[in-house]
Amino acid sequence: MVWVVSVQPLKPHLVMFWMLDFVVFKKLKSTWIKFGCWGASSGIGTETARVLALRGAHVLMAVRNVESGKKVKENMIKEIPNAKIDVMELDLSCMSSVRKFASDYNSLALPLNILINNAGVFPYSFILSNDNIELQFATNHLGHYLLTNLLLDNMKKTARDSQKEGRIVNVSSIGYIAAYPEGICFDKINDRTSYVNYRAYGQSKLANILHANELTRRFKEEGVQITANSLHPGVITTNILRHLGLVGGIFNWLSNYVNKSIPQGASTTCYVALHPQVKGVSGEFFADSNIAKTSEVAKDADLAKKLWDFSFKATMSNPTSLSS
Ligand SMILES: NC(=O)c1ccc[n+]([C@@H]2O[C@H](COP(=O)([O-])OP(=O)(O)OC[C@H]3O[C@@H](n4cnc5c(N)ncnc54)[C@H](OP(=O)(O)O)[C@@H]3O)[C@@H](O)[C@H]2O)c1
Repeated sequence: MVWVVSVQPLKPHLVMFWMLDFVVFKKLKSTWIKFGCWGASSGIGTETARVLALRGAHVLMAVRNVESGKKVKENMIKEIPNAKIDVMELDLSCMSSVRKFASDYNSLALPLNILINNAGVFPYSFILSNDNIELQFATNHLGHYLLTNLLLDNMKKTARDSQKEGRIVNVSSIGYIAAYPEGICFDKINDRTSYVNYRAYGQSKLANILHANELTRRFKEEGVQITANSLHPGVITTNILRHLGLVGGIFNWLSNYVNKSIPQGASTTCYVALHPQVKGVSGEFFADSNIAKTSEVAKDADLAKKLWDFSFKATMSNPTSLSS
């Protein structure tokens, strides 16, 4: 059973636009159309998009590989003939791609209510992105941070014009507890020698939580009608372990028997993004469609502010280079 079955029908004021990692609802002329986009041909994001399309969402898929995105779109339309789905290119690990995507989207002058930051990678080895940033931090956090910032004016305007709450949902992980002991190693993001893959993953997932918390603080300060929450989807067999080789294969095989299914994994995202019970709730961490406890480091407001300032500098057009 999936939580989303209890979600209220989408209201016409909701503008949804779902990217590889997020969902938005948008209005076109006088007709409310729901959009979503995502970047994968599998995983939690695809299932989230499917559920949203089933609920009448117009889904815009932001994908690294447009061809595979189009195949997902075709399959979805076979199942849901009335589904409205589009595909756009986005590489979250590349800040110029994020800027181009946001610019293209904003130039459409379409509203945006719900943003789901879902994309994630968990590579085995230390990898630098094209921008020379450790890949997990770049993809899992910085790309989402920049994308959110570049779409915020749109979301604020939409919330004002529609008088309806906007929602930002960061798909984090309970793996955040495995972050380095310092939480975020600001001076060692690019330090290959101290890199431990699961700790770097935990760091990036901790950043997802801190990002949502700092957004919440800022929205409250500004009096903006947008919420920001983070969540753990559960442990689910997806492609996320594809780079872990045999270990990932064995884990995935075992996990088929004990873990959540992909629809169950997408349920908390759908709940936090859509459910009326979550109205006005912000700065919380969810698991199993409920508010869950986090560690002290995940609640650290000073750390969240420091991460915001660090991320701002790292994603500027001429970023301060990260130490290596
Ligand atoms: N599965 C779990 O047990 C689990 C547990 C806790 C948290 N999570 C979180 O859940 C989220 C979804 O993961 P998943 O399990 O569904 O894994 P997945 O099947 O590997 O999906 C990850 C998605 O992120 C996309 N992506 C990766 N790098 C990207 C980039 N540079 N630009 C754009 N899109 C990119 C992938 O696109 P491609 O198809 O192009 O690779 C894919 O759509 C992640 O944030 C993950 O950390 C998962």
